[in-house]
Amino acid sequence: MLSRDAIAKRVAELGAEISRDFSGQSIIFVGVLKGAAIFLSDLARHVPLDATFDFIGVSSYGNRPIAKEDPAGHAAWDSLGEVRLTKDLDQSLADRNVILVEDILDTGLTLNYISKLLRAHQPRSLRIAALLDKPSRRKMPIEAQYVGFTIPDEYVVGYGLDYAERYRNLPDICVLQNPPAL
Ligand code: IMP
Ligand code: MG
Repeated sequence: MLSRDAIAKRVAELGAEISRDFSGQSIIFVGVLKGAAIFLSDLARHVPLDATFDFIGVSSYGNRPIAKEDPAGHAAWDSLGEVRLTKDLDQSLADRNVILVEDILDTGLTLNYISKLLRAHQPRSLRIAALLDKPSRRKMPIEAQYVGFTIPDEYVVGYGLDYAERYRNLPDICVLQNPPAL
């Protein structure tokens, strides 16, 4: 769906945008493990500001098994809406400019949960950078201020995105057709 060259070009643009928006200020990138690790590392290298990193880990309670009657196989990755923290922040975000970095904004349940959690720290500002956005899947009213690509409702892997933990190391973003049952 998206070549490594197209991704690199767009990530550089997002980095330039963030650099302009926070010119003269310091920021903290907060990546959502594990999918955002590759995006964060590329993005941050296009932001020549005073910056630090932190990572947060979350896990959705039980993804539903694939339903045969769902030809698109959506059910395989529909989160049930319960998000659990598996790794907390290492530092306080109080009075910091926070860029929350996520691989993909899908139903919005994950980012809705995480952004509430981060807001409790009372950051100076909180913005979301999502490499991909699938707005047609949204269940929670949440938007990212920095979006790499708006994509249709397809299951994608690569550049950090996984299917059952695999394919994160693909340099391009690819559509996974007929996802096998987990
Ligand atoms: P949300 O809570 O439904 O917005 O889902 C966000 C999380 O679901 C992302 O961080 C991904 O881990 C996962 N996800 C959603 N769509 C895809 C996809 O197409 N490929 C890989 N992971 C996905
Ligand atoms: Mg994931």
